[in-house]
Amino acid sequence: MWQERLSQLFKRRPDLRERVGSLILVDTPRLGVSGANVVFLTDRETKRFYAFKWVPSGQSNHSIAVQTRQRKFLAGLYGEHHLPEVLASTSDAMLMEYAGENLRSLIAAGRIPLDALERRVDRIYGKFADVWLERRLPYTSGSLKHHRLARDPQRRLKRIEQALRGITLHGLPLSAYWQSPLCINDGATCPSLAQVFKALRKGYVPPHFMVPCHGDPTGDNLLVDPAKEGPWQLIDWEWAGWHDWRVVVSFMGEWWWSNSTTVAQATIEIKKGQAVINYHLEAPPATRVITECAEALAGRIGKQFGEAEWRRQLALQRGLLLLGDLRFVEPRRLPVDHAVALLGRGIEILGSSLQ
Ligand SMILES: Nc1ncnc2c1ncn2[C@@H]1O[C@H](COP(=O)(O)OP(=O)(O)O)[C@@H](O)[C@H]1O
Ligand SMILES: [Mg+2]
Repeated sequence: MWQERLSQLFKRRPDLRERVGSLILVDTPRLGVSGANVVFLTDRETKRFYAFKWVPSGQSNHSIAVQTRQRKFLAGLYGEHHLPEVLASTSDAMLMEYAGENLRSLIAAGRIPLDALERRVDRIYGKFADVWLERRLPYTSGSLKHHRLARDPQRRLKRIEQALRGITLHGLPLSAYWQSPLCINDGATCPSLAQVFKALRKGYVPPHFMVPCHGDPTGDNLLVDPAKEGPWQLIDWEWAGWHDWRVVVSFMGEWWWSNSTTVAQATIEIKKGQAVINYHLEAPPATRVITECAEALAGRIGKQFGEAEWRRQLALQRGLLLLGDLRFVEPRRLPVDHAVALLGRGIEILGSSLQ
């Protein structure tokens, strides 16, 4: 219960009493994607709002301790005004100032018109690009030793391939048709999974540079004020650090495709030695707007490589991200059709960029 956890925090930090009076609940607790709990509270006397986040006891993975450390890193990049103040924290709980509503729920509730959304996201992504261009670091063979988040492309590839070989969709294990060409939405035949991964082993080379960033800029972790276009804040800083710019940019666009689209219908069957996939994915207009903003960002960051090359690199990452997301369909309890659509879209994107 939040009361119990909050009073533990107060006991450990008696100085908090001077800053915060008695807190009362303003909304039902919500569960974050990581399993953390968040409640919104208000101070009876000052009327200020707070968010209290805690991880269930026994499940402490120290993510909150990591987060508060990484907050400093992000404050150095974006400034304090883009991060809610943390009033007190332990390894499994933290009290912060309330920082607005998350972008995903505002979009879902239709509270941001599309043109305003485009301006807002362009501004936020534009700030990311400014910071990246100013501070990027060359990626060298020693980079991973110091910046493990920049990830070794070949190891990432191996992990995704291994996971896919263990996935079954509509009763058909992917491993059973690993070598079969895929036919998607009655279009031209796409390469088999075996061919895709073979091409990726050659084509997925390390990035030229790493960028310092938030690392998990999903629609749940971007908070904005629905009434004002300017302010935005980042929360959930666990993954902040140095990253492969291509992975982050692809995530910034494609996260919306794997999280806020409707899969009307999806089938997969084996016909004459081919795996035939048919899917229909309905994306709300906001998803397209945000994908375009991510592309604009890639255009700025990848300028030095020329348009064809940055587009190819981005497509490769986007496709791989969707295939990688197949691993989370079960834990997120998404319908199998969703997984089939991710596979279809992922292979289509990869097929065209690996030719
Ligand atoms: N400081 C805050 N101000 C306003 N809302 C917050 C704040 N912290 C968290 N939230 C809300 O709670 C949700 C879950 O919090 P988050 O830190 O992202 O948890 P998780 O690690 O589980 O993703 C966020 O998407 C956001 O809507
Ligand atoms: Mg989050």
